[in-house]
This record gives sequence, C-alpha cells and structure tokens, in this order.
Amino acid sequence: MDRTFVMVKPDGVQRGLVGDIVSRFEAKGLKMVGAKLELLPEERVTDQYREHLEKPFFPGLKQYIMSGPCFLMVWEGRNVVPIVRTIVGATNPAEAAPGSIRGDLALDIGRNVIHASDSPASADREIGIHFTPAELVDYTRID
Ligand code: CMP
Repeated sequence: MDRTFVMVKPDGVQRGLVGDIVSRFEAKGLKMVGAKLELLPEERVTDQYREHLEKPFFPGLKQYIMSGPCFLMVWEGRNVVPIVRTIVGATNPAEAAPGSIRGDLALDIGRNVIHASDSPASADREIGIHFTPAELVDYTRID
C-alpha cells in the first residue's frame, strides 16, 4: 500500500492544529501507521529540504522548522501521496483552495503549517529520514 510523510510544522503545533489536521486525514479514510512529536535536529531538516539548500529562504526555513516541536506522521492508503497533497493545499497559502488545510488555516508561505511529500519517491526518502521501520505499525482495518 502507498505511504506518505506528513509533518505539522512548529506553527501548527503551537496553534493547537494537530487534532484538526489528523481529523481531516482520518475522515478521508486514510490510515495512520506512524506518528511522533519531535524537535528535529539540524541534519534531518537539511536532509529533508536538501533541494532548497541554495534558495534564499533556506536559512529562515531551517530556523522556523527547528523553532519548536514538529508532529511527524506516516499515512497509508491507495494514491495517498496526491490525495494528501490535495487535502493540504498549495504551498503558498494565498493560492491554497478554501477547504484545504493551508487554505483554511494558513496565511504566509513562510508559516504554512504543514509539509507533505510531493511524490512517491520523496515519500520513501522522507519516511526513511524520519522513521525507522520499527516505528511504523503494520495492522489491518476495515477499509
Ligand atoms: P514545504 O511544503 O514544507 O516545502 C518547502 C518549504 O519551503 C515550503 O513548504 C515552505 O515552508 C518553504 N518555502 C517555499 N518557498 C518559500 C518562500 N518563497 N519563502 C519562504 N519559505 C518558502
């Protein structure tokens, strides 16, 4: 089954949005197979965002992601990567559709509440950065 990596960023955790965000994925019918609250070390932030290392916003992005705990999750389901991206909404909250997480809950691209993998390859890579196999639970559920 397909899996994707989702992370509520420090602004989302501090604003108390974790429950709302988890509810949206649960209501869609996706299955949570891993979750943890963590202060991310610099190496993992750099690894996750390695494609942005040379971007002018990278130092601010790294500081923001390390400013408080993130809530990291792995979600499972058929076509979970594009489904989660649709629920999350466009990277820039100004362009995110109403009803999406960023469309409803965020204003600023630099404080956009949540990250979700943009492809199955990114999902595999990002899950591997943040979770060990033992942290992912294999269980059945009526789908
Ligand atoms: P995310 O989906 O986590 O992927 C890359 C992140 O970089 C993005 O969300 C934003 O948090 C951040 N980002 C992308 N573009 C900009 C920008 N122009 N200014 C500040 N942050 C940005």
